[in-house]
Amino acid sequence: MKIFVDTANLDDIREALDWGILDGVTTNPSHIAAEGRKFRELVEEICTLVPGPVSVEATALEAKGMLAQAREIVKIADNIVIKIPSIVEGVKAVKLCAHEGIKTNFTLVFSAAQALLAAKAGATYVSPFVGRLDSVGDEGMELVSNIRTIYDNYGYQTQIIVAAVRHPGHVLQAALIGADVTTMRMHVMRQLITHSLTDVGLKAFMADWEKVPK
Ligand code: E4P
Repeated sequence: MKIFVDTANLDDIREALDWGILDGVTTNPSHIAAEGRKFRELVEEICTLVPGPVSVEATALEAKGMLAQAREIVKIADNIVIKIPSIVEGVKAVKLCAHEGIKTNFTLVFSAAQALLAAKAGATYVSPFVGRLDSVGDEGMELVSNIRTIYDNYGYQTQIIVAAVRHPGHVLQAALIGADVTTMRMHVMRQLITHSLTDVGLKAFMADWEKVPK
């Protein structure tokens, strides 16, 4: 399973890259706004740092506008994927982008029906927001499992990015279901490697090592 970091923060991206396990980055308008930097400049820097795909969202709400923005944004770097919202105009925009070879990430996905249309339109990626579903009492991971089944039933090549991840359990379930990618904030990535028994065990080993005559 590929691991993406969900941020537009350069320090977070550098930290994840430094671990040697980062496959890509997902941004959204809120992440970009949080950095207080000029859009083009920031996206360019992110794309230079990251060898893998970088998702950047189109903000127009009509298909033609989304396509026009997509055409401009992909000029910034070769590794850009255009995020398109899961609305009717978004389905049309994904189809238009696919026709021009522009990679897309169908975002804000909360139902398997939305994911089915994304695949039919030719989306490169689909992003079910699992944590946001959980927070309204739904089962985010059940959605991921349903999308996996549908895509496997018909051989759709659209890759599933599990997004809006809240904890390591989401990441583990994503891997068990066979999602292609999980994107997460840096604090969740740090949680993946942390275990209290590892800390206790390491402390004991280090203490015993001190007792070894050298
Ligand atoms: C993914 O592509 C989105 O940027 C992200 O996962 C949104 O998640 P949030 O609910 O943490 O804002």
